[in-house]
Amino acid sequence: MKIVSIVGARPQFIKAWPVSRALRQAGHTEILVHTGQHYDDAMSRVFFEELGLPEPDVNLGIGSGSHGEQTGRMLVALEPVLLQHRPDWVLVYGDTNSTLAGALAAAKLHLPLAHVEAGLRSFNKRMPEEINRVLTDHCSDLLFCPTQTAVENLAREGITRGVHLVGDVMHEALLEARQIAAQRSRILDQLGLEPRSYFLVTVHRAENTDEPTRLAGIWSALTELARERPVLFPVHPRTRKVLTRLGLSEELAHLREPDCADGDLPVVRPVPGADLRLLPPLGYLDMLRLTESARVILTDSGGLQKEAWWLGVPCVTLRDETEWVETLAHGANVLAGTEPTHIERAISRQLARPTRQNPQVPARASGLIATLLGRNHLS
Ligand code: UD1
Repeated sequence: MKIVSIVGARPQFIKAWPVSRALRQAGHTEILVHTGQHYDDAMSRVFFEELGLPEPDVNLGIGSGSHGEQTGRMLVALEPVLLQHRPDWVLVYGDTNSTLAGALAAAKLHLPLAHVEAGLRSFNKRMPEEINRVLTDHCSDLLFCPTQTAVENLAREGITRGVHLVGDVMHEALLEARQIAAQRSRILDQLGLEPRSYFLVTVHRAENTDEPTRLAGIWSALTELARERPVLFPVHPRTRKVLTRLGLSEELAHLREPDCADGDLPVVRPVPGADLRLLPPLGYLDMLRLTESARVILTDSGGLQKEAWWLGVPCVTLRDETEWVETLAHGANVLAGTEPTHIERAISRQLARPTRQNPQVPARASGLIATLLGRNHLS
């Protein structure tokens, strides 16, 4: 089979890592297309280098823009690539604008479309990711679901053909990367941290970054927490821009163009008397190392909620809903929104929880995906 895989944003590079390898091992020909949605070295190149993901065959270099502009430019740029290669399958991942553009480009050219991480729903249509997921699923011929909940979500929307519960490629990536991180990552030493002594935070969802009250609520909770123990906050470019704009820190520019010796990490401490440390976006290996050793994770990321759950690290989600409802079972993950008092209450509850590994059967999602693509030739 000839398969065009479309990636563009940080989590997609991680998802494509096991799948790309499985496709090639199964004898398929893969053409890897990078839309260029994420383009900073720290958001893109580091993942290809660390994970040994094949260099993209095509980089569309789209970059940033409004949702319509970004998605539209991708659609225009993807069409000739798909026409040139005429693949047996177009493979898209997750829920980003790159996912939707890939899905629409394939559907309009009547090319068979497969979606990895199909069926997730937050039921919040104000999230751009929710629109991207729903539309992509409705265009797809093969839908690879990570969970039974995802299969049921699709069935409720009348999608039952081509649906396969394959497991989670992110879990597969985590199991393998964890071993590599244990050998290569020096991040805890670099930051002078003991395991379980710090909170780890990520915030990048538009619903939080683009809403000043929500961002201010999170910021206020973080500065309070950091008076008690270190709070590490690798800052996504979207978040860095809004923090700068809100005047929360003048030094944030330093995180963009780190001017430090090899191996050093730029760390910005914007609040006197609080151990709040802003870091640049981290590679997957360092991030995984920090995640598994954190006392509590605070995040609005989908991927990090799952990683915390798999690693048994208590999580507080800075959102009002989650697609990964399984993580809420037994309080391993708590939805706290962005009110400082709610966040503080959720953290107290999570601090009372022991960190405990969630036993998981080793995942085989990527191998199943490669096999199913080989068996279901539509064109
Ligand atoms: C995207 C996805 C989101 C995913 C996230 C992971 C959509 C709608 N959202 O959000 O589902 O969880 O990626 O990170 O696709 N920027 C840089 N440098 C970069 C990348 C982005 O400066 O390397 C800037 C862009 O210019 C833009 C902002 O960050 O202003 C946000 O980037 P964007 O591509 O719009 O989406 P994300 O917020 O990263």
